[in-house]
Amino acid sequence: MNAEHSGIADPGLAGAGKARIGWARQAMPVLARITEQFTAGQPFAGLTVAACLHVTAETAVLVQALQAGGARVLLAASNPLSTQDDIAAALAASGAAVVFARAGADPRTYQDHIHQALAPGPDLIMDDGGDLVNTLHAERADLLRGVRGGCESTSTGVLRLRRMAAESALGFPVVAADETATKRVFDNTYGTGQSTLDGIIRATNLLLAGKVVVVAGYGACGRGIAERARGLGAQVIVTEVDPVRALEAIMSGLRVMPMEQAAPLGDVFITATGSRDVIGGPELAVMRDGAILANAGHFDVEIDLPALAGQAVSVSYDVRPHTDEYQLADGRRLLLLAEGRVVNLVAAEGNPASVMDVSFAGQALALAWVADQAGEDDGLAAGVYPVPAAIEDQIARLALAAAGAQIDVPSPAQQDYLRSWRH
Ligand SMILES: NC(=O)c1ccc[n+]([C@@H]2O[C@H](COP(=O)([O-])OP(=O)(O)OC[C@H]3O[C@@H](n4cnc5c(N)ncnc54)[C@H](O)[C@@H]3O)[C@@H](O)[C@H]2O)c1
Repeated sequence: MNAEHSGIADPGLAGAGKARIGWARQAMPVLARITEQFTAGQPFAGLTVAACLHVTAETAVLVQALQAGGARVLLAASNPLSTQDDIAAALAASGAAVVFARAGADPRTYQDHIHQALAPGPDLIMDDGGDLVNTLHAERADLLRGVRGGCESTSTGVLRLRRMAAESALGFPVVAADETATKRVFDNTYGTGQSTLDGIIRATNLLLAGKVVVVAGYGACGRGIAERARGLGAQVIVTEVDPVRALEAIMSGLRVMPMEQAAPLGDVFITATGSRDVIGGPELAVMRDGAILANAGHFDVEIDLPALAGQAVSVSYDVRPHTDEYQLADGRRLLLLAEGRVVNLVAAEGNPASVMDVSFAGQALALAWVADQAGEDDGLAAGVYPVPAAIEDQIARLALAAAGAQIDVPSPAQQDYLRSWRH
């Protein structure tokens, strides 16, 4: 096994991974256009990128785009359960990245992999959830000076970065790639909405029609999950802490109540809040026999797993793939999917390629922007930056073109009318 393969499970899976990357690429026309631009413009020439991302076929297409732009990429997994070993093998074999990712890696190996991706000293970082940035600041602060900047792709990671920036603890500029309208609509709402239900159905073979589905959080992800569950015939209950979001759920025809009241009613519980202990011990204690617990939020803290373990007298692991059955003292059983981790990435394949096409287009362009800005003499100061409007516009236009759609262009008279208050 050579150095390029040292972090992966089985180099022999490269052929299968290559085929799946090819399939994903067909559904990623926006990133294809950006790859052409990167090939011509070489925005990452001579730069090392440390990336911590879910190692999926779509991520491979993104990594290849960065490589086409001149980057040397070191890739670690952003979740030990979401790594697709065939993709890791194919990426390593193609030389597009040095890969440190293995499905089911224990917490120590997972952390070691992040360290290995950072070891050469990155110029740029691409993070998903903040583990790379955290490790860099907490354990490899010696490398901070060399980092020009980076981007973060999920809401939870951006929240953490903002907290770091507020305490002047962030060492470089980071673009909040999560916060484009295109990403939030395509990825969080439509992508996660569909793939979360896909994960639950694959793990349980459940018929959703007629079931009571409780969705915690009616944000970008939660509303996608709720609408798709309703579309499949479920009765949906939403729990929220934000009054405006709660009102939106009610206006969409959904029931809203506290988790405490929803707990005894639900057949399926799906958390998508970015918070912790959204389903806690008291709620677990009153759930129906056979209730299903799934999480779509970034970390495995939304369902209080220690409380679940504490109430169980025994656990049967993998009664179906990614389904663990907790037997409680009073005879009830609760079914935990994907160990409480992102169910769409663990029990299904994550978001469809056409969704990730748009998300990753934003990330790729954001990273190129940061590389460009930070290369200037008066480069960006440390902090969290929004995705420039021009990038959002470019992505939306590329995505529209890929969908074969055209839009109107405002006439000069219309532009004048909208700009002036005199009319
Ligand atoms: N699984 C995936 O593929 C995927 C994709 C995108 C985002 N995410 C993750 O999903 C989570 C949600 O992302 P989002 O973009 O929807 O965020 P968001 O901020 O748009 O929505 C979160 C919602 O949860 C609500 N909330 C917070 N605490 C709550 C509580 N205790 N009970 C009920 N509701 C509560 C908030 O008020 C908000 O409306 C984040 O952790 C994000 O990183 C996962």
